[in-house]
Amino acid sequence: MRITDTSDLWWKTAVVYCLDVETFMDWNDDGIGDFEGLSHRLDYLAELGVTCLWLMPFYPTPDRDDGYDIKDFYGVDPRLGHFGDVVEVIRTARDRGMRVIVDLVVNHTSDKHPWFLASRSSRDSPYRDFYVWRDEPPAEQQATAFPGQEESVWEYDEKTEQYYLHRFYRFQPDLNVVNPKVRDEVAKIMGFWLQLGVAGFRVDAVPFFLDTVGVEPGHGELADPLGFLRYLRGFLGRRSGEAILLGEVNLPRKDQVQYFGGDIADGLTMQFDFIGMQNMYLSLARADVRPLAAALSERPVLPVEAQWANFVRNHDELTLDKLTDEERQEVFAAFGPEPDMQVFGRGIIRRLPSMLRGDPRRIRMVYSLLFSLPGTPVLFYGEEIGMGEDLSAGDRQAVRTPMQWTAERNGGFSSARPSKLPAAVVGDGFSPTHVNVADQRHDPDSLLHFIRRLIQRYRASAEIGWGEFRVLKQPNNAVLAHTVSGDEGLMFAVHNFSPDPTTVTLSIEGESPPMRLVDLLRDNSAVTDDKGVLQLSLEGYGFRWLRIVNPGEKRLF
Ligand code: GLC
Ligand code: CA
Repeated sequence: MRITDTSDLWWKTAVVYCLDVETFMDWNDDGIGDFEGLSHRLDYLAELGVTCLWLMPFYPTPDRDDGYDIKDFYGVDPRLGHFGDVVEVIRTARDRGMRVIVDLVVNHTSDKHPWFLASRSSRDSPYRDFYVWRDEPPAEQQATAFPGQEESVWEYDEKTEQYYLHRFYRFQPDLNVVNPKVRDEVAKIMGFWLQLGVAGFRVDAVPFFLDTVGVEPGHGELADPLGFLRYLRGFLGRRSGEAILLGEVNLPRKDQVQYFGGDIADGLTMQFDFIGMQNMYLSLARADVRPLAAALSERPVLPVEAQWANFVRNHDELTLDKLTDEERQEVFAAFGPEPDMQVFGRGIIRRLPSMLRGDPRRIRMVYSLLFSLPGTPVLFYGEEIGMGEDLSAGDRQAVRTPMQWTAERNGGFSSARPSKLPAAVVGDGFSPTHVNVADQRHDPDSLLHFIRRLIQRYRASAEIGWGEFRVLKQPNNAVLAHTVSGDEGLMFAVHNFSPDPTTVTLSIEGESPPMRLVDLLRDNSAVTDDKGVLQLSLEGYGFRWLRIVNPGEKRLF
C-alpha cells in the first residue's frame, strides 16, 4: 500500500458517524430535527474528525419503525426538509472532508408504499409480484426479527385472501427480490441517490433482503441471491468510482464471508463486525479478553478491497444473539440486569456509559480499543460525549434520544415545547446538565477531546485501517495486547479490561534491540531491553498505543 492509496479506498481509514436527522438538530424549532440543523453542525462533525456521515432513513414514512418503513424511496420526509436541504448537506459535508452515505432499506417497504397498496388491491395487479404472496404460510416458518412483538412472518390479507411475507413488522411487507422488476427498481433507487452525490449506502438487513425463502421455486438464475448482490455492486461501480456498500449482516463468520463476494470482493464493501462486538461485551463482563481475541483472530482474511466496520453501539438493541445462552446471561447480568433494559430476549437497550456505570476510565478504554482495532470505526451520534439512554422510551427507542448540545432546555436540540420533540431528552445523571457538547468543547479533559485525539491518531495510522491483526501472547488474560501491521509500519496497543493495575511483559520482534517505542496517546515513550523485552505498566482499565521508532524513522509523532 502506498500512502496515497488511502485516498482511493477512502473507506478503509474512514471514521463513520451515524445519525438520524430527526433527533440531531432542530433549526426551525418545530421540535423535529432537520437537514438545516444538520448543516449547521457539519463543522462540529468535521472538527471531531468524522469523514463519513451515515444518515439513517429520512424518506417519507408512516414512521412506525423510526423511518425504516419507507413509503417513497425518492423523497424526503417533509418534516426534515426538502431535496434542496439534502443536497446542501451533501455538498457542504464534502467541502468539510466528509462523504455522506444513506440507508438503503429495500428488504421491505412500508405497507403504505404505493407498490404495496397496488399489490394488495387485487391478485391481478401488475404490482402483485413485487411482494411475496402465498395461499398458506409454509409449514417451516422463518423466525421473526422481533420476537415478542410479532408472532409470524406471514400476515393474512382479507381482501385478496392470501398471506404476505414480512421478516420484520407486519407493516413492513418484504419485497420479492427474485422479481426482475423489483431488482431494476433497487438499482434505480441507488442510481438516484448516487446522482445526488452520496458516496454509497448502509444496506439494511442484507441477509433478509437477499433471502429467497418463501419465494416459490422455479425462478432459476434469479434465485441466486448473491448474484443479485454482485449485480448491485457492479452497478454501483459503474455509477461511481468511490461508492461503497456497508452491509448489516449479523451472521456467523462463515456466512458473513460470502456477502463480501469472492476473492475479488465483488459483494459488500464493508460489513459490521457483529461477532467481534458481541464478544467484546462478553470480554468486558468477564474482564477476560479471550472471547474477544478469539473472535478477532477468527475473522476471515479479506481481500484488500473489503473491510470490517467496528462499532460499540448502534441504533438498535445491543444484540447478543450470537453468544451462547449462558454467555448472554453473563452479559445481561453485568450490563443490563433489569427486564426493562432488555429486548427481544437477546439484547440490551442501553448505551455504553450507563452500562459501565459512568466509569470514565473504562469508557475510554473501550473507545481506545475501538479505534485501535483493524477496520473502520463507526460511531453512533452522542457516543463522543458519552450520552446515556432513556429506558422509559422502551425498546430500541431508548438510545434514539435528541442529541445533547448544551445544558439548556431540550439539551439545545430545539426550543420547541418538550412535548413536540420526537423523543424525550435523557433525564437522569446523563441529562444535558451533565453531558453536553458545549461544556465538553471547552474542557480539554473531556471525553469529546479524548475521542477527537483517538480519531486523529487513527487517521494518521493507516496500518490500523489497512493492516494485519495479531494478538501478542502474554500471561495476563485481562489484557489484550495486539499489533496491527502494514506497509506503513507496526502499531502496538495494550488494553487492560480489569480494574486492577498490572504490568505486562511483551517481547517485541524488531531490528536491533534495545528499541525505542513512542506513545501515540500521551507524551511518553518506552524502551525495550537488549533482548527486545518491553515492560509496560497499566493502570486499572489502562491502555497504551505504541509504535516502534526505527533508526532513520521519518514519520511524524
Ligand atoms: C435493521 C435496522 C433496524 C430496522 C430493521 C428493519 O435491522 O437496523 O433498525 O428496524 O432493519 O428495517
Ligand atoms: Ca425542525
